Amino acid sequence: MKFFIDTANIEEIKELIPFGIIDGVTTNPSLIAASNRDIFEVLDEICGLVSGPISAEVTATDYNEMIKEAKKLVSISKNIVIKVPLTKDGLKACSELRNKDINVNVTLCFSPSQALIAAKCGASYISPFIGRLDDISHDGMQLIQDIRSIYDNYPEYDTQILAASLRHPNHLVEAALVGADVSTLPPNIIHKLFNHPLTDLGLKSFLDDWAKSKQIINPK
Ligand code: E4P
Repeated sequence: MKFFIDTANIEEIKELIPFGIIDGVTTNPSLIAASNRDIFEVLDEICGLVSGPISAEVTATDYNEMIKEAKKLVSISKNIVIKVPLTKDGLKACSELRNKDINVNVTLCFSPSQALIAAKCGASYISPFIGRLDDISHDGMQLIQDIRSIYDNYPEYDTQILAASLRHPNHLVEAALVGADVSTLPPNIIHKLFNHPLTDLGLKSFLDDWAKSKQIINPK
């Protein structure tokens, strides 16, 4: 499974790069706004840090304007993926951009039928929003499972399932179990993946025993 980081905060990205686990970055208008940076400047900096796909979302809702914005955004770097909302205009833009060999992430997907039409329009990635469905008492993970089954029935679709709006490590585990291709994770969830209280306890007891032995590992 590929891990994307869901942030436009440069320091958060830099902190996780040395682990070698960041395959790409997703941003959205809220995340760019939260960075308090100019969209072009911050995306340019992110593209310099991560060589994988970097999702940059259009903010226009009209097809023609989306295409204009997409052209500006792709000029930042060759690893920019244009993110469009799952609307008629967004999918028309998706089709046009894919014809021009520009990668597209179709975002705000909340149903299997939306995922199916996005694949027909050539989406490179479909982003089902798990947490936002759970928030309204729907089963977000079932959506991923349904999309996986549909896409697997039709190998001619090469749309990757990008599990989005993940709120805790179990969301990631469940997304991996049902076969999402990619998960985009807020940094706080990535940090939680390293932790287990039994690891801490086990390490403490190993080190206590070692201290009692009075040995040292000392390369001479
Ligand atoms: C990523 O592409 C999405 O924009 C993001 O995961 C949304 O997450 P949220 O529902 O926590 O805002």
